[in-house]
Amino acid sequence: MLKIAVLVSGGGTNLQAIIDAIDSGSLTGVSIELVVSNRENAYALTRAKEHGIDSECIKPSDHADRSAYGQYLADHLKERGIGLVVLAGFLVVLPENFVDAFEGRIINIHPSLIPSFSGDGFYGLKVHEAALERGVKVTGATVHFVDKGCDTGPIIMQKAVYVEPGDTPEILQKRVMEQAEWVILPQAIQMIANRHSDGQ
Ligand code: GRF
Repeated sequence: MLKIAVLVSGGGTNLQAIIDAIDSGSLTGVSIELVVSNRENAYALTRAKEHGIDSECIKPSDHADRSAYGQYLADHLKERGIGLVVLAGFLVVLPENFVDAFEGRIINIHPSLIPSFSGDGFYGLKVHEAALERGVKVTGATVHFVDKGCDTGPIIMQKAVYVEPGDTPEILQKRVMEQAEWVILPQAIQMIANRHSDGQ
């Protein structure tokens, strides 16, 4: 069984997609061990509690500095036997010591086809505003491994979504979530869980 921790900052719809995939049996060999948010009022924490999943708020500001935060978080997740860390709308840049502690075992969902509209400053609605501003006809979502850069780790899976006439950033965000993010994040986790069970 691959134990995962899901790190969140907002509404938690990607977390919900993982929960629903496990509940429906379409995602197997995976258990959500812990949900961690940097924000106490993140609705994602409510979603976790409603499903009986352990959840905690761990804030960088509760620690002496970023390195202490990274070390605490890494130790805490290792104590819980976490095999994969899933960033699902997590808006804190993880310190290097945390990335080192879980090298090759941290994934992130980004709401564009990386390398487009990715990197510093590209998160949430800003990504879709930039896509509409540029006038792209196709956008989508990407699941990638997290390295020490911003949205720069190896790409695992992508799914394209058409931009429609009249799209606003909000409409486009919803379509990318529904048609891409909530589909490829559970699929990417399944791929990793399969490798895990094969001892890779
Ligand atoms: C999603 O758009 C995701 O792509 C981005 O942040 C947003 C989080 O949404 N990383 P939610 O908290 O999963 O609803």
